[in-house]
Amino acid sequence: MTTNAEIRIVPIAAEYIDGFHKALDAVAREREYLTLLEAFPLEETRAFVLGMIESGNPQFVALADKEVVGWCDISRHAFASHAHAGKLGMGIIPAYRGKGLGRRLLEAALRAARETGIERVELSVHADNHRAIALYEKVGFVREGLARKSVRIDGRYKDAIHMALLHEQPNQP
Ligand SMILES: CC(C)(COP(=O)(O)OP(=O)(O)OC[C@H]1O[C@@H](n2cnc3c(N)ncnc32)[C@H](O)[C@@H]1OP(=O)(O)O)[C@@H](O)C(=O)NCCC(=O)NCCS
Repeated sequence: MTTNAEIRIVPIAAEYIDGFHKALDAVAREREYLTLLEAFPLEETRAFVLGMIESGNPQFVALADKEVVGWCDISRHAFASHAHAGKLGMGIIPAYRGKGLGRRLLEAALRAARETGIERVELSVHADNHRAIALYEKVGFVREGLARKSVRIDGRYKDAIHMALLHEQPNQP
């Protein structure tokens, strides 16, 4: 397997859409961590990614050789009153977890968010996802609330923790 140092974190591009779709589908089908329980069809995923690129939303993938093994994206909210904020999603296929890749992906996406003027990055994480919560807190996310029984997968309820990180922007009117 490719070592961590050999894995590249790169902005998403059209050529990585198939790989992103495959990685997203694999993590979704674990039925443990994501809201999605399977990826949307490839063509919908393609439209989503091309929209992210066009609107300048941060989206990065981790590449082991040419395989997409993880992703992190931040979608800016559409309504003007919320457009200073964006929602983060991420995932890594099982064999590549726990090696620091999550942190590299997250830091790349947060840096891009700051550069593009996203002041508030929000996310929702299942309360039993201790590794993800630890990672988010390490990079500065703060717990803002608990949504009780927010998730039900195969009859199992889970609480969700809402977290956010603020990028303070100087000289805002
Ligand atoms: C969550 C996820 C993105 C984290 O990425 P990762 O590459 O596995 O995590 P990292 O190796 O960067 O490590 C995260 C940190 O949490 C720590 N950690 C790992 N397991 C932990 C646990 N069970 N409890 C507490 N902390 C833990 C690590 O020590 C590490 O800290 P360090 O950088 O100081 O060593 C990845 O595991 C994943 O994709 N999981 C499945 C999908 C998912 O949960 N997506 C997020 C949905 S909100």
